[in-house]
Amino acid sequence: MALKYSIPRGTYDILPVDAYKWDFIKNAFKNTVATYNFKEIVTPIFERSELFERSVGDTSDIVQKEMYKFFDKKGRSFALRPEGTASVVRSFIQNNLNKIEHDVKLYYMGPMFRYDRPQKGRYRQFYQYGVEYLGSQTPYSDAEVISLAYNFLKKLGLKRFDLEINSIGNPKSSKRYDEVLIKYFSPHHNELCPDCKVRLEKNPKRILDCKVPACKKIAEEAPLMVNYLDDESLLHFKSVQKYLDIMNIPYKINPKIVRGLDYYSNTAFEIINNNLGAQNAILGGGRYDGLVKQIGGKDVPGIGFAGGFERLILSMEQEGVSFGEIPKPNLYLASIGEKTKNKAVEIVNNLRVNGIKIEYYFEKNSMKSQMKAADKLNVDKTLI
Ligand code: HAM
Repeated sequence: MALKYSIPRGTYDILPVDAYKWDFIKNAFKNTVATYNFKEIVTPIFERSELFERSVGDTSDIVQKEMYKFFDKKGRSFALRPEGTASVVRSFIQNNLNKIEHDVKLYYMGPMFRYDRPQKGRYRQFYQYGVEYLGSQTPYSDAEVISLAYNFLKKLGLKRFDLEINSIGNPKSSKRYDEVLIKYFSPHHNELCPDCKVRLEKNPKRILDCKVPACKKIAEEAPLMVNYLDDESLLHFKSVQKYLDIMNIPYKINPKIVRGLDYYSNTAFEIINNNLGAQNAILGGGRYDGLVKQIGGKDVPGIGFAGGFERLILSMEQEGVSFGEIPKPNLYLASIGEKTKNKAVEIVNNLRVNGIKIEYYFEKNSMKSQMKAADKLNVDKTLI
């Protein structure tokens, strides 16, 4: 019989057998960010849709095709958040967080929503962990955020991943590079996919990121951003590399990283696991110096990244990395026959009140069935 109510496409249930893996990652992330003095921020799951349109960018795929938009009863337009940065920046401005500390270092975790074509490692509701470092423009802060991402994965025990970095330059360099790309791609206009035809007019850099084979082929020979960085952008990029070198963080320069969101400038980076298939980015991020001002705040620079729990769990499973201990009770209480039940209930309650993890199956009476149950629970000891 077909299921009357099944889960929406692109979503999934986190079942008890897996839930502890999520907890393990959350705790590991909290431990890592604490060593860098990042503090938690929690923002709503929906925001005014205009916030994302203005920040993530109205030419991005996320805003154009993937936003879960809806109208509330008063006709206002909202969207389920497709990512965390815009909300964090909105909150930073609204709560005057820059008045509290000079450098504001924030982390978050939670569900994000994108109406994308579901496949391995890509969901419509997925979970991100991420950080945003607001208020510092030094290349050291880029390196700090990148090192946090790298060290987090290393500490989890992952080995197979590569850090790739790029610079998309300051707005001046970026604009100049756009002009160079328009010149390069225009003669190929007819060969580009329909999306890239639009990109050519609105955001030519994104053609470099297109997965359509014809566009990919044309993009292979495209001029590279690194050759169009002005002195300021180049110095920033070189300095980020210097600090990564000092911290012994291995990286590759990938001049094709452009990122799918509009707010980036200068540093862009991704951590890739090539064993994951098409959705191989474990995490991604970059600098967004214009964003705070663009959505109504002061001219405050920022840099951050976010990663998906799902791809991280897949990577850990592939490499056989441990998720820590599977939670279980330490004790089982077996009570034989009806008469002992009242006492058993009292004992179990007292132990639980005192923090002891104990299981008791009220309906079981025989010794045999309870020993079996205790065995299945894998408890350390059974009280009889
Ligand atoms: P993003 O590259 O769009 O960046 O997403 C970051 C990460 O989230 C990806 O590398 C991937 O691991 C995961 N992810 C994205 N979409 C999906 C999906 N549909 N299913 C499963 N996982 C997914 C951002 O979101 C930026 N806010 C990152 C950032 C923070 N930049 C600066 N600060």
